[in-house]
Amino acid sequence: MDKIALGVTSSISLYKAADIIRLLQKEGLAVRVIMTEKATNFINPRLFTSLTGERTIVNLFDEGQRPVEHIAMADDICLLLIAPATANIMAKLATGIADDFLSTFYLAVKSPVLIAPAMNQAMFLHPQTQANIKKLKDAGVEFVEPESGYLACGQTGSGRLASPEKIVQTSLRLIRRQPVFKDKLIVVTAGPTREALDPVRFLSNRSSGKMGYELAREAYQRGAEVVLISGPVELEPPAGVKIEKVISSEEMRQAVLRYYDRANAVIMTAAVSDFKFSQTGSEKIEKETLPPDLKLERTPDILEELGRLKTGQLLVGFAAETAQMKARAGQKMKKKKLDLMVANDVSRQDIGFGCDENEVYLFWPDGRERFIQKTAKRKVSQEILTEIGAMLNARK
Ligand code: PMT
Repeated sequence: MDKIALGVTSSISLYKAADIIRLLQKEGLAVRVIMTEKATNFINPRLFTSLTGERTIVNLFDEGQRPVEHIAMADDICLLLIAPATANIMAKLATGIADDFLSTFYLAVKSPVLIAPAMNQAMFLHPQTQANIKKLKDAGVEFVEPESGYLACGQTGSGRLASPEKIVQTSLRLIRRQPVFKDKLIVVTAGPTREALDPVRFLSNRSSGKMGYELAREAYQRGAEVVLISGPVELEPPAGVKIEKVISSEEMRQAVLRYYDRANAVIMTAAVSDFKFSQTGSEKIEKETLPPDLKLERTPDILEELGRLKTGQLLVGFAAETAQMKARAGQKMKKKKLDLMVANDVSRQDIGFGCDENEVYLFWPDGRERFIQKTAKRKVSQEILTEIGAMLNARK
């Protein structure tokens, strides 16, 4: 199991380290906590020992350590994360002072280092703190910038620890990034579109956005720049991903086209409405005045247009089928000039629309096929991104 060393220093926000540990563990990572002595004034190290199942390290000469523990442990970890990080620890790391376990360990670490600062705004913006941050960035240390908001000192400003979700997503990206996704822009569409009849009624479908949001999260973790163009859904966008919220198919089309020139790959997971009302009302249509024959017309097919305009982008479509999956998905793949088609059976209640799991077939234009049996949408996304990575690699 991959292990992360989590440095915890004496900011009041250190209670959030417990959430960070839980989120990292949910991602299958082991965590070993290193506290500074001052941090133990706020929380007893036993809390983190209980959460991680491993003794929290505070001092260089604690009992029960391996000989030269800070050197031995440096080989065990895939990331050193310091969250929260005070101005003091950053000053020490920037100048190479090694007078406790954490600062000594930093000098021994070969893995990536990620720092999430937290302090009062004046301390954060102080030229000396900023100079230390710059020095650390120049040395290759990565940062999760603090957020603006209410601070423990009672003031409002910048210096608040970034959210545990954001810190964990950034950590995962540092551990899981792959060279093939570096400097690649991946556009993912997700969710349904809504075609309005009037200000209160619309035509839509059952897409929850889960499949697309998982793909966006996964692409980000592998190191890509990700734009997620989302119809109306109830999900929180993954941290680090740029979100563009749209309502109608026309808005989704415009948003995708805005990024298309720069995109290396587009993954169209969205269930774009195929129809819209021919006539719409700017005010609520009273039932007495509703025309008896409401007329529908086709919406533009975004993916087909992308296929026509293609200049090297990798195009991935999703086929939502209820019968003749292979034949219909194959026709759509050809018509839309796709590089990969992912087909799912949306007549099933246990996969596809709204579910946490999916079961899909992958079809390639050269006739290759792959079946991914029913599993979590996160796992399906990992498999799809692995295939996309291989296709991007083959294009180099
Ligand atoms: O969102 P979830 O609840 O997680 O559900 C996931 C999902 C079932 C929505 C997803 O897995 C899926 O199947 N998405 C594709 C839905 C769809 O519109 O399928 P389609 O076979 O009608 O369209 C084929 C492709 O053309 C799709 O990539 C679609 O985005 C695209 N399309 C369709 C119509 C249109 N006007 N423009 C398009 O670009």
